[in-house]
Amino acid sequence: MKDGMEGVEAHRQMGVDDVLRARRSIRDFKNTPVPDALVDDILRAALHAPSWGNVQPYRVAVASGTLAREISADLMAIYERAMAFRRAGLLTRLRMLRGGIPKPDGDFNTIMRYPPELDARYKATGKGLYELLGIKRDDKATRERQMGKNFAFFGAPTVLFVFCSADLGAYAALDTGAFIQSLALAAHTRGLGTCAQAALATWAGPVKTRFDIPSGYKLICGVSLGYPSDDPVNTYAPTRRTLGELCIQPS
Ligand SMILES: Cc1cc2nc3c(=O)[nH]c(=O)nc-3n(C[C@H](O)[C@H](O)[C@H](O)COP(=O)(O)O)c2cc1C
Repeated sequence: MKDGMEGVEAHRQMGVDDVLRARRSIRDFKNTPVPDALVDDILRAALHAPSWGNVQPYRVAVASGTLAREISADLMAIYERAMAFRRAGLLTRLRMLRGGIPKPDGDFNTIMRYPPELDARYKATGKGLYELLGIKRDDKATRERQMGKNFAFFGAPTVLFVFCSADLGAYAALDTGAFIQSLALAAHTRGLGTCAQAALATWAGPVKTRFDIPSGYKLICGVSLGYPSDDPVNTYAPTRRTLGELCIQPS
């Protein structure tokens, strides 16, 4: 993919199916800044996503440059303390507890227990990613470092924190999902990459202290945005359900 506006036209020639198939979660970005006008252009396109009753129950906090780096530094510090607590023995844990350990303070629970059918896919997707990265299952330190890259936005210069209306429950989340996919596709057609990250909703403090979040809005997801690097991690293409697995048969 090309930087700047030159790659944009070529990408815009793509049909919707091409874009749907070619978009991937990007987990390694160049540090090339994304111009504000391009971020606005993507958000404007994504605003055409459908929503129930056209209520558009989402808001976005955009962080770039210094602001993004400050939020990342805070999130990283929290993540590292949480990991240190997890690794620590009993005595150290007790000491850390007195200092206050960073329990998730996000608006949603981002630590999932999947039902068995879904858990198998979740585990296979994680296993495939770590295999591609050459990270062994028992290499906890490297796995932790890889997970920690979420909080550095995988090197992206821009991150979008996406909020949804707290009062609409599942339907606000559904509308917000359509919005996030729309912005991911709009970014892709402009030569940019994205990674939707529920991990970025685990600790909300660093974002909430830096933005005036409208009341009634909850942080549901972060989306890293930038130019994809050539790192092999960006080639990872986890499998999809077959149609047989997708479609429910008549009884
Ligand atoms: C709501 C949501 C949350 C996600 N959270 C994370 C995350 O925290 N970290 C991460 O690396 N990827 C995250 N992903 C990316 C998924 O792992 C990815 O979409 C999935 O494996 C399919 O791969 P693809 O996007 O490359 O097609 C998330 C995706 C979605 C839609």
